[in-house]
Amino acid sequence: MTETSNLETIAVIGGTGKEGKGLAFRWVKAGYPVIIGSRSTEKARAAVAELEERLSDEEKARLTGMENSDAVRKAQIAVLTVPYEFHKSILQSLKAELSGKYLIDVTVPLVPPKVSTVQVPPEGSAALQAQLLLGDSVSVISAFQNISFELLLSDEKINCDVLVCGKDGESRQVGLKLVKAAGLTGWDAGPLENSIVAEGFTSVLIRINKQAGTKSAGIQITNVPRD
Ligand SMILES: NC(=O)c1ccc[n+]([C@@H]2O[C@H](COP(=O)([O-])OP(=O)(O)OC[C@H]3O[C@@H](n4cnc5c(N)ncnc54)[C@H](OP(=O)(O)O)[C@@H]3O)[C@@H](O)[C@H]2O)c1
Repeated sequence: MTETSNLETIAVIGGTGKEGKGLAFRWVKAGYPVIIGSRSTEKARAAVAELEERLSDEEKARLTGMENSDAVRKAQIAVLTVPYEFHKSILQSLKAELSGKYLIDVTVPLVPPKVSTVQVPPEGSAALQAQLLLGDSVSVISAFQNISFELLLSDEKINCDVLVCGKDGESRQVGLKLVKAAGLTGWDAGPLENSIVAEGFTSVLIRINKQAGTKSAGIQITNVPRD
């Protein structure tokens, strides 16, 4: 038995995409069993094969790929990384499988083409939308909206912070643990209502990236003790 075998299994819904693959890469390297979820089993397996090129044999053994619903069924923690236009439909289709689990919602409610202008969903944020749609049996956590996939997929240390929101302290602790495992500094940013700040800030970062000719602008909290 390995030292890390008691860690929760994480299913990344839409894990074949840029952000999902980046998070999967970081967590599998940190010792978590990770399942890449997709609408297509073949696509999930192709994403696994792509990441495997950068993993040790021990890490490879922790990474699998399957259809989204099977992935969520096998996991304790699900992570949602799909474009906002599919946020509601994918959550509706996985509602039964998500019941009783934690869901980390990474979705930014971007509405193309105005991606550098903050868009606020009627419920207040994408994470609040998810919590309302899924009901109390699911603990929605909001995190990672301000971390670009390029950073996650690199082998470098990431000098960015992550704001973690959730309906209660216990949910936020689950989010903070996975932020740390991904090699980032997390902050308890309070109730899910506050997720509007992290979601909205991504549009500001996209604007700053455009102006600076960069791809990975992020945020850092200053003048407080850091770990
Ligand atoms: N990219 C970043 O740097 C970044 C940073 C922070 C936050 N985010 C947020 O993370 C989320 C994912 O971003 P991304 O850049 O990774 O997106 P992406 O690569 O364009 O897409 C992610 C995945 O979404 C799935 N998908 C596409 N159409 C779908 C549909 N109709 N129904 C269900 N799933 C569908 C696809 O998986 P399958 O085809 O395999 O099902 C795809 O691989 C977005 O909400 C984004 O705002 C992204």
